[in-house]
Amino acid sequence: MTTAALNDRNVGEIAAQLPGATSVFRRFGIDFCCHGDISLTQAAAERGLDIAELETALQALDPKAAPEAPQETDALISHIQTRYHDVHRQQIPELIELSRKVEAVHAGHANAPEGLADVLQQIMAELETHMHKEEQEIFPAMRRKAADPLATPISELRHDHDAHGVFLEQVGKITDDYTLPGDACRSWEALYAGAAQLKEDLMEHIHLENNVLFPRFETGATA
Ligand SMILES: [Fe+2]
Ligand SMILES: [Fe+2]
Repeated sequence: MTTAALNDRNVGEIAAQLPGATSVFRRFGIDFCCHGDISLTQAAAERGLDIAELETALQALDPKAAPEAPQETDALISHIQTRYHDVHRQQIPELIELSRKVEAVHAGHANAPEGLADVLQQIMAELETHMHKEEQEIFPAMRRKAADPLATPISELRHDHDAHGVFLEQVGKITDDYTLPGDACRSWEALYAGAAQLKEDLMEHIHLENNVLFPRFETGATA
């Protein structure tokens, strides 16, 4: 993709086509995964950002750099499952356990992440149901290049992703955007580092589905 006229392009499209764009969007606090369907100009205006500064950061990226994830559909699905589904299943239960510990040890501390373990538990439960649906029904249909239209189930998955985004906002609120108090212990540090990693992973995961994989099956064209 050329970097010309970036401002008219959708955030999700730029995230899908320009290697490294997602890390720029993360740096500027732009939601490229659940709300990637708005133009760069609009996204900058909503966040009160200088569009020129944002464009400069994106134009500094190499459009010919290797993409971060495989592009071919089968390989992309395998990547999503091993890099994201499997990793969420391993990391989130660890974070729940760690959060219960930190919440108990620091109960009464003004910055204690009260309720974080419960929110993480809800995220895990919803993600499990959602990932199961993808792994058992939607991904196999995509791999088969099934003739049956996938637009409806995909719109349900997109809806689930929006709900995951709301959970991430709750985690951000409870942890004051992963800000540690001066007297945080090692467990607390590990908890916020892990929670921030979860946010990064989940956003990247949703981005790969919403902006790269799903559009291939929503227009009637199969990849
Ligand atoms: Fe997924
Ligand atoms: Fe998903």
